Amino acid sequence: MAEVSLGGTEIVMADKANVSRPELIAEAQRSNGLVITLSEPLDADFFRAVSDGPLRVVSTMSTGIDHIDLLAAHAAGITVARLPATVTAAATAELTWALVLGVARGLVPARADLLDGHWGRWNPWQWNGVELAGATFGIVGYGAIGQRVARYAAAFDMQVLIATRTPPSALDPGAQLVTMDELAARSDVISLHVPLTPDTALMVDTPFLAGVKHGAILINASRGGIVDEPALIQALDEGRLAGAGLDVHAIEPAAPDAPLVRHPKVLALPHMGSATTRTRATMAAEAVKGALDGLSE
Ligand code: DGY
Repeated sequence: MAEVSLGGTEIVMADKANVSRPELIAEAQRSNGLVITLSEPLDADFFRAVSDGPLRVVSTMSTGIDHIDLLAAHAAGITVARLPATVTAAATAELTWALVLGVARGLVPARADLLDGHWGRWNPWQWNGVELAGATFGIVGYGAIGQRVARYAAAFDMQVLIATRTPPSALDPGAQLVTMDELAARSDVISLHVPLTPDTALMVDTPFLAGVKHGAILINASRGGIVDEPALIQALDEGRLAGAGLDVHAIEPAAPDAPLVRHPKVLALPHMGSATTRTRATMAAEAVKGALDGLSE
């Protein structure tokens, strides 16, 4: 463990990436604040183990807090701090668009053909993808990330549909507010930007997928648990969906041989939406600040 002092607060930093759960609990039992990442799920057992100690605040280096049992934290008298969605919005919206373009234009299979020597005569029928200009982009969730993704869609000359449970104070010009059913039926690309909560868990399920426009593309850069993965595989296999771009998975880290990771119609990534050097540096600084702010309250 490396130690530094910041404004009178002693900060202890793990000097390895994989801190075991016993090590995490031991540190938490002797600390006032704890900064964690998505790889440290904090469940009721964790909060029970630390509830008699000095821990007062947990700050997560993420906007999502589905890896933390908030009720158990509250019962233990521990405050939970998270990052505002604006911190990761640019990086995550950009990665969302990398997925959209990668799936729509079949970049992964085209590159595989190139590497495998399958680039022969110029073939008018090879590698033809979906053209986005003029197509319809459906966005589920209109927070900081959804709003950015919507602006980029408009810049691609797409019609933008928004489905959100939180009525927005303002909509981007040209964007249209619709129900989930209408969004499913009309969108050529559907992109998910909601947090994982009991309300959104498995929101993209068999009935939803039965209602999507034939040949649509699904993009998920939010949380894997929002999608019923077996239902998604079925929709891909039956051709109802032409493809999917998935940065997130129901179980993370996803196994290299997981069915969706290997699926020929899926561009799968390892939960890297916020992974730009600038955003990760800001996230780390904001997470530490969240813990220090929590301690000074
Ligand atoms: C978040 O912030 O919750 C992301 O999933 C991690 O970048």
